[in-house]
Amino acid sequence: MNLIVCKNYEEMSLTAAAQAADIVSAPGEHLISFPGGDTPLGMVREFSRLVNKGGGVAEGISRTRYVQLDEWVGLGAEDAGSCARFNQENLLNNLRHPFLGVHLIDGLAASLEAECGRLNAFIDRHGPLDLSVLGIGLNGHLGFNEEGVDFEKTAHIIPLSETTKKVMRKYFDRDRDLEYGITQGIRHIMAAKKVILIANGAHKAAILKRAFTGPVTNAVPASILQRHGNCTVIVDRDAAVEL
Ligand code: GLP
Repeated sequence: MNLIVCKNYEEMSLTAAAQAADIVSAPGEHLISFPGGDTPLGMVREFSRLVNKGGGVAEGISRTRYVQLDEWVGLGAEDAGSCARFNQENLLNNLRHPFLGVHLIDGLAASLEAECGRLNAFIDRHGPLDLSVLGIGLNGHLGFNEEGVDFEKTAHIIPLSETTKKVMRKYFDRDRDLEYGITQGIRHIMAAKKVILIANGAHKAAILKRAFTGPVTNAVPASILQRHGNCTVIVDRDAAVEL
């Protein structure tokens, strides 16, 4: 695991965006994935700026496909707080040069099993991921791979943990009674050629310590990244204090 400690949120965001832009600029076709949540906002904005500047990144984006990481079951792209809306508002709608292809997850799909099938099919067809950028939940979840998740799974529906249900209040302008998430599986993440995990703030310090200095266990899903051959953890100083 490579650890990069940045002086603040802005530097973390710029560092992660620059690494993503490098991958997109490389020759050939690419498949990339970014997380939702608060953490990636700065990175996604900077990544969009780099694409819009033109040059190699803009050229590379026309050879790059984008796939969403996860979604709240029960929320669609129109709903405030949905990951699809986050992707549209902060990334896709801001790019002057479009991706070669985009796969968003529909948390309102009539058949969630079929929605998992669509996600798996897109990654099977265009993958493996060249880059998976991840945040980390306070319980160590990656996407919605919650505590106890089967590390062998691909896309699946999973009950939200109690921690996630508490934390989710910050994303919605009114109370939502959400019980499940739909997510890329740990198999997808571990098959990615490069993983970047971003985290900022003192509230993430304890879980980062458990994930990267404790045992590999599905009680802390992010701990599996200790076994990834090309994982870079980019954090600010506050999040890094226990690493
Ligand atoms: C959310 C999402 C994750 C995200 C994580 C951290 O619930 N399912 O994809 O990385 O929790 O969120 P935040 O960046 O808001 O702390």
